[in-house]
Amino acid sequence: MSTSSILSVHEIDIQSDQTVICRVDFNVPMEGGKIRDDYRIRAALPTLKAILETGAKLVLCSHLGRPKGQRLNQFSLLPIATRLAEILERDIVFAHDDISSETAHLVHELPPNGILMLENLRFFPGEKKGDANLARARADLGHVFVDDAFGAMHREHASITGVPRHIETNATGLLVEKELAALGCLLTSVDKPYGAIIGGSKVSDKIGVIEALAKRVDHLFIGGA
Ligand code: 3PG
Repeated sequence: MSTSSILSVHEIDIQSDQTVICRVDFNVPMEGGKIRDDYRIRAALPTLKAILETGAKLVLCSHLGRPKGQRLNQFSLLPIATRLAEILERDIVFAHDDISSETAHLVHELPPNGILMLENLRFFPGEKKGDANLARARADLGHVFVDDAFGAMHREHASITGVPRHIETNATGLLVEKELAALGCLLTSVDKPYGAIIGGSKVSDKIGVIEALAKRVDHLFIGGA
């Protein structure tokens, strides 16, 4: 059951001859070209499996780090595609470009139920600017859009708010649903005393959440920065 008027991936009709574009948040911690923690990749698995069960083709897209519109090797999504292929025990086609006739060809040539991952969306300056042409060109790669990038949903970027404007069938993924349900509970019924722990490495980005929580909680613990 979805937590809002936005449909869940389980509530939309995906045909086996369609291509689903799934925006995920594979912004994982990296060190020396190696993944330090693959939690975010694993967190997307229920959604990816739900899409793959329909027999459709899957086009995955994500950002990694903040490469500021430049193609920088240390932010390539290739190691993430390799890790996901190991976890799923499936081949994944990697598109080194974002939008090009070569990428469109790779998507077209994918076998039914095949998976393709696009290179880091932020290698392309139009992503963060929310470029409408870029969004439309990406939307042309598929028939259905699923957003499971919970950690990036607040960004007004081409892959987040732009692509779904050009695709009629949109849904949220199961990770987004799970996170919204968890947050929803925290805003309504909670036992007292109410303590919250905020973690993660980008505390400055979480000031809004901290301010909102501070009004409700008895104790607030901040760590991980
Ligand atoms: C995150 O890790 O917080 C998300 O992936 C968003 O990344 P960003 O803060 O670079 O937009």
